[in-house]
Amino acid sequence: MDLSSKSVLVVGAGIMGAGIAQVAAQSMQGAGQQVFLHDAREGAAVEAKAKLATTLQGLVAKGKLTAQACEGALARIVPVSSLDAVAGSGLGLVVEAIVEKLEVKRALFQELESRVSPDCVLATNTSSISVTAIANGLKHPERLVGMHFFNPVPLMKLVEVVSGLHTEPVVAQAIFELSQVWGKVPVHAKSTPGFIVNRIARPYYAETLALLQEQSGTPELLDACLKAVGFRMGPCELMDLIGHDTNFAVTNSVYEANFYDKRYMPSLVQRERVEGGLLGRKSGRGFYRYPEGVPALPVVVADPMAASAAARAVADDRHGGVVVQGVHIFPTDGRTAREWALELGTPAVVVHDRLVGAPPAAAGSSRAPAVAFATTQGLSPEQRAVAVAHLMSQGLEPHEVADTPGLVVARTMAMLINEAADAVHQGVCTVDGADAAMKLGVNYPAGPFEWLRAWSVDGVVALLDRLDAHYRGERYRVSPWLRARLA
Ligand code: NAI
Repeated sequence: MDLSSKSVLVVGAGIMGAGIAQVAAQSMQGAGQQVFLHDAREGAAVEAKAKLATTLQGLVAKGKLTAQACEGALARIVPVSSLDAVAGSGLGLVVEAIVEKLEVKRALFQELESRVSPDCVLATNTSSISVTAIANGLKHPERLVGMHFFNPVPLMKLVEVVSGLHTEPVVAQAIFELSQVWGKVPVHAKSTPGFIVNRIARPYYAETLALLQEQSGTPELLDACLKAVGFRMGPCELMDLIGHDTNFAVTNSVYEANFYDKRYMPSLVQRERVEGGLLGRKSGRGFYRYPEGVPALPVVVADPMAASAAARAVADDRHGGVVVQGVHIFPTDGRTAREWALELGTPAVVVHDRLVGAPPAAAGSSRAPAVAFATTQGLSPEQRAVAVAHLMSQGLEPHEVADTPGLVVARTMAMLINEAADAVHQGVCTVDGADAAMKLGVNYPAGPFEWLRAWSVDGVVALLDRLDAHYRGERYRVSPWLRARLA
């Protein structure tokens, strides 16, 4: 089934629908192929086209688009005030991007069925509603499929092609191939709560919110630690950008849709912000104040005496770390510094984070990557200075957090890997699909399975088991997919 030569109807001319119409119109070649754009609000489709014209003409002025390409794309977009206007126009595809309400979407598709031919593919851009549920009640539910774009549509490469129970594989494949024609990278997904990206990404926010609730570190410190391993934005600044109301709503919807599985439990820290109107950038204040944004972390200065001592590090095979001046310094395996101290019989213990998949330090970057570390209560200030100097000698900028299992990066990465493993275990996506989706849908520096290869199954499972033992409950239960792959 080739949809690339057929005309398309986009219903809903809001932020997503306008973007979808743009990518469809910009990729189409030849004469006669059209993108009809319809919105229930009178004049909205015309306004959306006018706005797009301004954007594209701006690109022409900057030399990023030819005048011919701009005119061609605009000529192909035809606003229609009624769905009747498209009846009999030989439509191959309808993409729906209207309000996120099941009953409204169902009613729209049922209405569309009376106007389009039986082989016209019906696609929904829903981000949270079951594709199976939307198809229920259609005369031809097998031709309904999810075509989930990411915002902003013209820039974000990913399309999740979501199959419900009714969806015919040829229909999903046709949308997969059309997405490629539109310059996107499609990934197949099974219709399950959050699909791929909105599900696997939950721990990126949730672990930081949990650390904040426990007063382990400040938003700026947690953000700096995750940016040190290549995330473009830390979780706090990202939640501020998305808006806490939106982010909280997505978390709630995944939580509810999973029958209140504690794994996905929303955070009191975030609810408080939503209730208080501290929604992030759009309200002027979230975790940070705007326009100021993320404040800089204080610079760490090494004690020169400790720095010379730090050079004499002795490897300690018991924990894969080193001993410097009697101080045991090692990467987290999920045990707290306190637990290690009890095991080793000394309070001279420092645990530091794992920079899983960290990119090589950017040349010319003025600051070393931030790394979290935790100490025991009995550690002396001199011993702490020795550990700080040692970490600095490794090209890192150490910052202390509370003595929590898995610290910041290791804990977050382990949970992202675990969620991705469960998604694969449940047939939601493939390993490669999960990696591509997270890199292209939310700009992760690497995919969860790429991090897993850089770390180890045994290491991730051990860390998660320790988090599970520490906190109890369902949140940190290990995916059967990971357990089956233990060495
Ligand atoms: P929006 O509010 O910007 O646009 C929705 C448009 O649909 C409005 O112009 C509205 O007048 C129109 N509309 C509402 N009911 C209609 C109906 N029955 N018939 C025709 N037009 C109707 O919303 P946005 O953000 O564009 O979202 C649209 C869909 O895309 C939703 O399902 C949303 O969940 C999904 N989505 C949104 C993303 C985002 O970041 N905003 C990302 C991915 C998916």
